[in-house]
Amino acid sequence: MNTPAIEVRGLRKSYGTKAVLDDVDLTVGAGTVTALLGPNGAGKTTTVHILSTLVRPDGGTALVNGRDVVRDPDGVRAAIGLTGQFSAVDKLLTGEENLMLMARLRHLGAKRSKNRAAELLEQFDLVEAARKPLATYSGGMQRRLDLAMTLVSAPSVIFLDEPTTGLDPRSRHTMWDIVRSLVADGTTVLLTTQYLDEADELADRIAVLDGGRLVAEGTPDELKRLVPGGHIRLRFADAARLDAASRLLGESARDDAGLSLTVPSDGGVGALRTVLDRLDTANLEVDDLSIHTPDLDDVFFALTGRVETKGTES
Ligand SMILES: Nc1ncnc2c1ncn2[C@@H]1O[C@H](COP(=O)(O)OP(=O)(O)OP(=O)(O)O)[C@@H](O)[C@H]1O
Ligand SMILES: [Mg+2]
Repeated sequence: MNTPAIEVRGLRKSYGTKAVLDDVDLTVGAGTVTALLGPNGAGKTTTVHILSTLVRPDGGTALVNGRDVVRDPDGVRAAIGLTGQFSAVDKLLTGEENLMLMARLRHLGAKRSKNRAAELLEQFDLVEAARKPLATYSGGMQRRLDLAMTLVSAPSVIFLDEPTTGLDPRSRHTMWDIVRSLVADGTTVLLTTQYLDEADELADRIAVLDGGRLVAEGTPDELKRLVPGGHIRLRFADAARLDAASRLLGESARDDAGLSLTVPSDGGVGALRTVLDRLDTANLEVDDLSIHTPDLDDVFFALTGRVETKGTES
């Protein structure tokens, strides 16, 4: 992994007697996307708020770009952008005016503010709407403007708290493209989501949070391999080969009509190689092969014992 942009160790936070974050560890490599995945109340927003210096942790350490969120909050703030916090956005002002205002707040100067606003309006496909008051923007347009506002000062680390909740499929995909282009430019992204497919699409690594505890962490593929149910499917040219392979591989389900065998597997390369080596040694040619790994829904279920309903808003 690259040099970490975010390093969290033993993070704890309680409200009253309720532990909201319980010993959370998290590392986010610079220039990568990590998804904090979890249901309502898991502690996602609390984590983001601690990392963006809005909430003080009770214990543990959190570094952003090497700066400690408690000891050097100004250092952290200089590096980050946070989306989801723009209650300060003025709905009567236009998109352009809001961006200029933010730029001036960030001490960019009149000329640079204007240039930066124009650049962002272009990048976020808001040129046509630039001179219209925010009150007339659709949900997707407002979300894009929100994100544009956080990018005014070109932060190296950005936090996106449920960037696509409530958006229609097209706006979700637009948002995904935006996140990808940010990362392509070297930005580090920590996003929270309740959507397994979003984490799967965008994230280099996924941290699954449930009830304030980190229940799993890894690449999407690693997480998928944690759950049983993966298999390798082999198809053969004729019944004779199918027969021989079935005898050779033992524990496998056989589909005579489809001339195929389903062999349980963790979906990893090692298991695949073992199966292929055995077939090779026996001189058995495989016609077609596919690998099935469980999806993130299976992972979440395996980890938490619950199936999450998608699209619930907090
Ligand atoms: N200021 C607060 N005072 C008391 N309890 C709080 C406060 N902020 C959060 N909580 C509680 O902490 C828990 C975690 O909240 P948090 O907002 O971090 O969850 P989340 O994962 O972001 O959930 P959601 O998906 O609903 O946004 C919840 O049980 C919430 O009620
Ligand atoms: Mg939240």
